[in-house]
Amino acid sequence: MTDSWVNYAERLGADLHLELSGPGGRRAALIRALREAVRGGRLAPGTRLPPYRSLAADLGVARNTVADAYAELVAEGWLTARQGSGTLVAERAEPLRGAIGTPAKQPPRARGPRHDLRQGTPDASAFPRAAWLASYRRALQQAPNEVFGPGDPAGRVELREALAEYLARARGVRTEPDRIVVCSGFAHGLRLLFGGIGAAVLRGPLAVEAYGLSFHRELLAAAGVRTVPLPIDEHGARVSELGRERAVLLTPAHQFPTGGPLHAERRAAVIDWARARGGVVLEDDYDGEFRYDRKPVGALQSLDPERVILIGSVSKSLSPAVRLGWMVLPERYVGDVLAAKGEREAWASVPDQLSLADFISSGAYDRHVRRMRQRYRSRRDRLVAALATHAPHVEVTGVAAGLHAVLRLPPGTEPSTVKAAAWQGIALDGLAGFRHPETDMTAHDGLVVGYATPSEHAYGAALEALCGALPPE
Ligand SMILES: Cc1ncc(COP(=O)(O)O)c(C=O)c1O
Repeated sequence: MTDSWVNYAERLGADLHLELSGPGGRRAALIRALREAVRGGRLAPGTRLPPYRSLAADLGVARNTVADAYAELVAEGWLTARQGSGTLVAERAEPLRGAIGTPAKQPPRARGPRHDLRQGTPDASAFPRAAWLASYRRALQQAPNEVFGPGDPAGRVELREALAEYLARARGVRTEPDRIVVCSGFAHGLRLLFGGIGAAVLRGPLAVEAYGLSFHRELLAAAGVRTVPLPIDEHGARVSELGRERAVLLTPAHQFPTGGPLHAERRAAVIDWARARGGVVLEDDYDGEFRYDRKPVGALQSLDPERVILIGSVSKSLSPAVRLGWMVLPERYVGDVLAAKGEREAWASVPDQLSLADFISSGAYDRHVRRMRQRYRSRRDRLVAALATHAPHVEVTGVAAGLHAVLRLPPGTEPSTVKAAAWQGIALDGLAGFRHPETDMTAHDGLVVGYATPSEHAYGAALEALCGALPPE
């Protein structure tokens, strides 16, 4: 018999090719083709099949042939037929693992920890789905067609305008929309600056805080940039010890991970250093909005917009899955960063950019941040209260801001405490994991406890488990 095939993308919402070939006539060939499509996972459980008449017309077979084939597959359990809802792929029709179109056999998924107290992630259950959806809908409704063509590497002007206004209001940033380059987060910004993507805008060595995110150090090392550790104390980085480097990366609003803001004198001093050396300060403004007891510490960038590159993202305020961030640049770097990005927007989804622009300018971002600030402040208070009651010997620090706290432990107990916690199903990090491998300084033993990650209902149990895992006095 002759082969015939048809593409049902439009009707099924899935790209499905049915090939009617082989022995036994068209009815048998159609049954085989549909069975294979279900078994192979190309037709997912719940997918609605086209009505007899249209499938028959497209395949050039009789309507009864399709009706018979469907009836046979219903009888075999591959399909279900319900009055009024047509013919659907049966829910329990398990795709054959490893068949064409399905992923090959997956290794079993590791079960996650019972209590996730790792720093880094906001409460994923609090993502503002309805408000984001409303922004997305409005943005798409108003978007001109050009939005769906190649994007501008600077990012959509709507977003850059919204960010310039928001960052000035909420973070004290002094900038203009044409000094902002949209990126897909802080890590992307670092790569753009140091040659991980395109030509390097800045060269190493780069001074970094002696305690920081190892992921960022590794990313820099992969781009061939040497990082030089700068000691920190309770006032943040000791910027007076900056050496011969021409660039320094700081977390001025909330030292990561130890938790204090950079002291006012040091803020001024590091700007003086940058001016004197012709250098630049990279400001990682990763959770600047979340300050609980007083007004947020403004961005260092406001002290000298020509000496500071501020990079921020929505990873803490909204979700790290959104992958949108911004670089606020001194004028002299804008061209080089855009050149590193390339001629088109290759990283940050343009519809998402428009959605974020709407989200910010409609006030939804402020409302979300305010709501989350209250939620995280209450979690912070519950953590402090739980420790005061159940582990009063454990000092908690770095809690004025952010989404994590540092618990000070007796010397020598950090590794065993992290291990004991893991045994009890609690995931958290010890301070040592954040230490620059070349630093001379050693902070006290401690735990970095992310209190934003568990969902609201799971937080009480996580706190109880944490208190139970701490070393006795
Ligand atoms: C210290 C620090 N900087 C920056 C970020 C943000 O990174 P990104 O924007 O690449 O998600 C994080 C994590 O959210 C962080 O912990």
